Amino acid sequence: MLDLFPATAAIEGDELTLGGMTASALAAEFGTPLVVLDEQTLVARARAYRAAAPDALIAYGTKAFPNVAVLRLLADEGLGADVSTLGELEFALAAGVPAERIVVHGNNKSDAELARAAEVGAGLVVLDAPDEVERAATAGIRRVLLRVTPGIEVDTHASIRTGHAGSKFGFTPETAIAALAHARELGLEAAGLHVHLGSQLVDASAGWASIAWLAGFASVCERETGWSPAVVDLGGGLAIRHVEDDPDPSIEDFVAQILDRVQRGFDAHDLAPPQLVLEPGRSVVGPAGVTLYRVGVVKQAADGTRWAAIDGGMSDNPRPQLYDARYTALLANRASDGPTATYSVAGKHCESGDVLIRRVALADPRRGDLLAVPATGAYTLAMASNYNGVPRPAAVLVRDGQARLIRRRESVDDLLAVEVGRDEGRSG
Ligand SMILES: Cc1ncc(COP(=O)(O)O)c(C=O)c1O
Repeated sequence: MLDLFPATAAIEGDELTLGGMTASALAAEFGTPLVVLDEQTLVARARAYRAAAPDALIAYGTKAFPNVAVLRLLADEGLGADVSTLGELEFALAAGVPAERIVVHGNNKSDAELARAAEVGAGLVVLDAPDEVERAATAGIRRVLLRVTPGIEVDTHASIRTGHAGSKFGFTPETAIAALAHARELGLEAAGLHVHLGSQLVDASAGWASIAWLAGFASVCERETGWSPAVVDLGGGLAIRHVEDDPDPSIEDFVAQILDRVQRGFDAHDLAPPQLVLEPGRSVVGPAGVTLYRVGVVKQAADGTRWAAIDGGMSDNPRPQLYDARYTALLANRASDGPTATYSVAGKHCESGDVLIRRVALADPRRGDLLAVPATGAYTLAMASNYNGVPRPAAVLVRDGQARLIRRRESVDDLLAVEVGRDEGRSG
């Protein structure tokens, strides 16, 4: 179980420690729910990408965990940022990510988003639809990629597949060729092509098929238009382990295979090897994150289900509801106690479906215990909501026995602050 936790996780006495701090001390100082990111794991995973592909641009998939401190840490490691909205772009800029390392996405970019990308000189803007060509040129964008949809199905949840034939993302191959010609007529620098098949891809073979497909498509472009891509952006997608029976794909093997297949694919069509861009999100930040919750109600239902309720749930991690995601957990303040029974972990929201973990063996959880859920750094807080008027949790980075607050906890006052007319009807 401990191997699902970040690299610095240990059990000392009865306590789970992360980055040299006990879970109990973290919860006491910052409250719960709390997203704890282990800096050492985060940096090690960023370095693994950089070391495996030193000539590539590694643009962190900001959507996985949009946070200024994290973006800054990753920028210091030489990473850029893949952003998909104006908000994410501003996060990257606030973190000081150099503009030339910013890749701007979006399947429906607004004029304001295009204008801001042009204004700050974002390194690449990934065009996603025919009407974006002209709008990008008008906004003053200079260097673009075209996102192409290869029509490849992948083995992941339907909601995070993006490269299939019916996808809302990207150009069909035919429209991409026309758009390339149009972009060049308008004076845009068409630097290359982008493909992203989906996220949490456990079976990498679809990824290899997409590289072969892309090389073939590049050769069609060359034959028909005399243009071939100088840059190829293969998006993100590498899966991570959430529970013990999940496979644990390695960044090094994944990237080595990509480099080899791009080289062979382009060689086979006599095309010059392109510069590579990768956009990993989940595989950088996911395994670095642990969420700490406080256990409240513990009870047994008529059918025998043992419920342990926590002080968060679908508002801080909607992945179980969205993707049938599975998690496991440990009682962080009694981490050396062996499990006594199987429990279901319920959130505090008014939905029967607000169940964080369907089945997990726990050591007799009691009110006040701390529940630690590993592999929760990606697409959890990033997708959080205020459902049921629940403020979103805080996040901290831990390292060498120190914790640094990188996102403060929201308060109910924060939620009320956007309510118009909130004081009418208040007495006193
Ligand atoms: C275009 C693009 N790039 C990168 C990513 C990051 O993917 P992941 O977090 O699976 O690495 C995504 C996420 O779906 C994406 O849509």
